[in-house]
Amino acid sequence: MKQFDMRIFLVWFFQLQLMDNMNFVVPKLKIVDMEKKKYLVALDGSENSDYALLWALENLVDLNNGLLLLLSVGVLSWGTSFEYSAVTRNILNGEKKKIQKQQAEQKAEDIVNNGKKLITDFLAIKKAELPLELYFNSSTDPANYILDFIREQRIDVLVLGSRGKISQHCLQFASCTVVIARKKKESHIK
Ligand SMILES: *[C@@H]1O[C@H](CO)[C@@H](O)[C@H](O)[C@H]1NC(C)=O
Repeated sequence: MKQFDMRIFLVWFFQLQLMDNMNFVVPKLKIVDMEKKKYLVALDGSENSDYALLWALENLVDLNNGLLLLLSVGVLSWGTSFEYSAVTRNILNGEKKKIQKQQAEQKAEDIVNNGKKLITDFLAIKKAELPLELYFNSSTDPANYILDFIREQRIDVLVLGSRGKISQHCLQFASCTVVIARKKKESHIK
């Protein structure tokens, strides 16, 4: 009778081990094989953000299992100070907004293309490949645009240059890991 109990115990114990192993193996395979780690570098055309991009390539991005997204969001700030009637003002402001938006988007596109060039040069030197996606847009609230983008695209790591309010806002509120790359300050002693 005692031996019988022991056998049941062993079978039960073995099954638990098996289930445990299966639970362990299945999600791990999924992460490694199916999902590349998604890195987002947000560019604003400044020296800091170019530095952040190169720093990320050199130090952070997994070239074997990474997907790199570049995003540039042109800033829209609508000014309204026309000395015309309300109707004329609305028409003029509408035109002005359209032009501003086009300009902001064009600038954002140029910034992203410049980032692509930096990456292409880097990869050529390293003889490496990395899947790349480019995004640009304009917004009156670039920081929140970036935060929404992170959620929609399921970004794993956001990389930014250290500059101003947008970096601070993203660092505080992003739903993923945030890395702010900062260039070492030159020594003041000459
Ligand atoms: C730009 O942003 C707006 C507002 O979020 C969005 O509706 C639009 O699809 C975006 N355009 C591109 C090219 O992503």
